[in-house]
Amino acid sequence: MSSPSAIHPPAALDVSGLDQHYGSAQVLRNVGFSVTPGACLAVLGRNGAGKTTLLRCLTGLIPATRGTIRLDGAEIARLPSDRRARSGLAIVPQGREIFADLSVAENLRVAARAHGLERSGAIEEAVALFPALRDLWHRPGGNLSGGQQQQLAIARALATRPRILLLDEPTEGIQPSIVSAIEAVIEGLKGRITVLLVEQYLDFAIRLADAFVVLARGSVVEQGSAEDLNHEAVSRHIAV
Ligand SMILES: Nc1ncnc2c1ncn2[C@@H]1O[C@H](COP(=O)(O)OP(=O)(O)O)[C@@H](O)[C@H]1O
Ligand SMILES: [Mg+2]
Repeated sequence: MSSPSAIHPPAALDVSGLDQHYGSAQVLRNVGFSVTPGACLAVLGRNGAGKTTLLRCLTGLIPATRGTIRLDGAEIARLPSDRRARSGLAIVPQGREIFADLSVAENLRVAARAHGLERSGAIEEAVALFPALRDLWHRPGGNLSGGQQQQLAIARALATRPRILLLDEPTEGIQPSIVSAIEAVIEGLKGRITVLLVEQYLDFAIRLADAFVVLARGSVVEQGSAEDLNHEAVSRHIAV
């Protein structure tokens, strides 16, 4: 008899029963969802809903107080963050966290080097997606515009050749032309890299997402495939 997993390959990312606390304040409550390999899952919700906390929990920056996180079927919730990164999880953090004193090139090298990929072509592949970075190659990261920094932050994550890319509000405070460039890159990742896209820019998220979850006060209040997305219900949960 064949096992169910032989029929359905494991989800790229499967999260179940996730709780998180800051001190005595519970910020995530029983969060669960799964993402099929190569799909883009939009994580929606208003400010303070727990989106950034969820991503930090997934990366291990603040380990979950309860719950399971499976990456291609393997449990990672108790692994330190560097082990999770090496197993293919990369994050583009909210606020980008570019190394301000390092050049564009060095920002990319630091990331690739940490994964033993400095001479693998991974940096060149990432930069090919954001050609504007070539003209900024020797500029300190701190001198770039917000949009340029966002492109660098995404390229830096891709230079680690992740299997799963976590993006925390990549359009926040970014000019429209760069938002379009970022959208085209995420679109191009589909089918190859599994993407978790945290967004408050609903139209951007809807154009890219195959599936969505909506967080409100740390709980999943709506989830489904892109076709199921009820704009009214979602707008109600994310309206300020
Ligand atoms: N370091 C922290 N210490 C205590 N509370 C925090 C911390 N970071 C975030 N919070 C609180 O956790 C909740 C969720 O925050 P966050 O995950 O940043 O939400 P979002 O990214 O959806 O805006 C908010 O109520 C926020 O005030
Ligand atoms: Mg946030």
